[in-house]
Amino acid sequence: MDHFHYIDGHLHAEQVPLKEIAARVGTPCYVYSRATLERHWRAFDRAFGEHPHRICYSVKANGNLAVLGVLARLGSGFDIVSGGELRRVLKAGGAAANTVFSGVGKQDWEIRDALKAGIACFNIESEQELRRISAIAERLRRVAAVSVRLNPDVDANTHPYISTGLRTNKFGLGDARALAVYKLARDDANIRVSGVACHIGSQLTELGPYRDALSRVLEFIDRLEAAGIRIDHLDFGGGLGVRYHAETPPSPAEYVAAVMKQVGARAPRLPVTIEPGRAIAGNAGILLTRILCLKRGVERSHFCVVDAGMNDLIRPALYQARQEIIEVERHAGAGVRCYDVVGPVCESGDFFGKARRLSVREADLLAVRTAGAYGAVMASNYNARPRPAEVMVDGGVFHIVRKRETLGALYRGESVLPPEPPANRP
Ligand code: LLP
Repeated sequence: MDHFHYIDGHLHAEQVPLKEIAARVGTPCYVYSRATLERHWRAFDRAFGEHPHRICYSVKANGNLAVLGVLARLGSGFDIVSGGELRRVLKAGGAAANTVFSGVGKQDWEIRDALKAGIACFNIESEQELRRISAIAERLRRVAAVSVRLNPDVDANTHPYISTGLRTNKFGLGDARALAVYKLARDDANIRVSGVACHIGSQLTELGPYRDALSRVLEFIDRLEAAGIRIDHLDFGGGLGVRYHAETPPSPAEYVAAVMKQVGARAPRLPVTIEPGRAIAGNAGILLTRILCLKRGVERSHFCVVDAGMNDLIRPALYQARQEIIEVERHAGAGVRCYDVVGPVCESGDFFGKARRLSVREADLLAVRTAGAYGAVMASNYNARPRPAEVMVDGGVFHIVRKRETLGALYRGESVLPPEPPANRP
């Protein structure tokens, strides 16, 4: 459920016509809906009821300060994977004390910054990482709270690039090694054992893999307790899928109910953390783009060339993701034709959709839906294209929450070589 809808044939974000945003801000441009973000976050929060929980929005999905700020005001925690994401959270008014630091490789400066800021917990993935965190904590005279990320070896049934819970993936530790790391952590004066963490992948559309993973995590918690190691929370990661096209993922309420049923049966008072990203931000954003030309291919295909490219939204090219593409204005009587919707980047992988039925004319606007997560954050400057503007709609008004990048910003920090002395020239 989102707040992008047609009013009299014009696509709106909440109460604002997208056409107006395109006219004022230009295209391509990401448009987010505050009401949708809040609705999704609250759906998770409400589903936990009175059970102690923390929703740590996964910043990697969309780290725009406005997005983080809206969620921080709701009391959200955050899941970060870099020192840069920590900086964003703090800048947006998020609380370090509600922030968990995930990821398979953390640099010393990132660990230092996180300790100084007072984050809630490091989710660690190796013994080496434990030792580094311990050494840095000792130097800073702090005690670092840690969870170990388990690799439960379950198949998330999602795209291989975003599946993380299999034994063959780089993520987490198997039971035996994890237990050994917990024992080291327990005996380390610079470390406090805090929780157990797990994340099996992204864009999951069924509960089965979650159930399998959770039963392994709960069994592992029993083994920890048998070894005299107590934890103060279970972090079950993120990954709940959204509807891009015809998927039917469980709702946040169904997902949380399933998690709590299993947790409740074995550890009824254990606080639970989750790290949703896509399920909060995905359907809260669209990519707004203008048609540059409608072109007939050499074969029978028709191409709809738009001003956004794979550098702005890479998901279709990288994961063969199918995202809906819809007209911003519905013209009565314009003929429907089947188009490949492509960008201007010099690669044949630069497409947003193949064989899409659209009723459009040149210079019309299109919206690529479900672009609020893993859209702007994955944008690049490939082909020397400035990254798009980002806008947040809030009821009847909109705010530019990131200006379109300038051409000068494309080479900021770069330089040509110094002039050479004449003798060096041939
Ligand atoms: N927690 C951890 C430890 C993660 O690695 C991730 C995502 C999340 C939480 C949030 O997962 P979510 O709820 O958003 O599924 N670029 C890819 C997705 C990569 C996800 C990586 N990790 C895409 O566009 O599909």
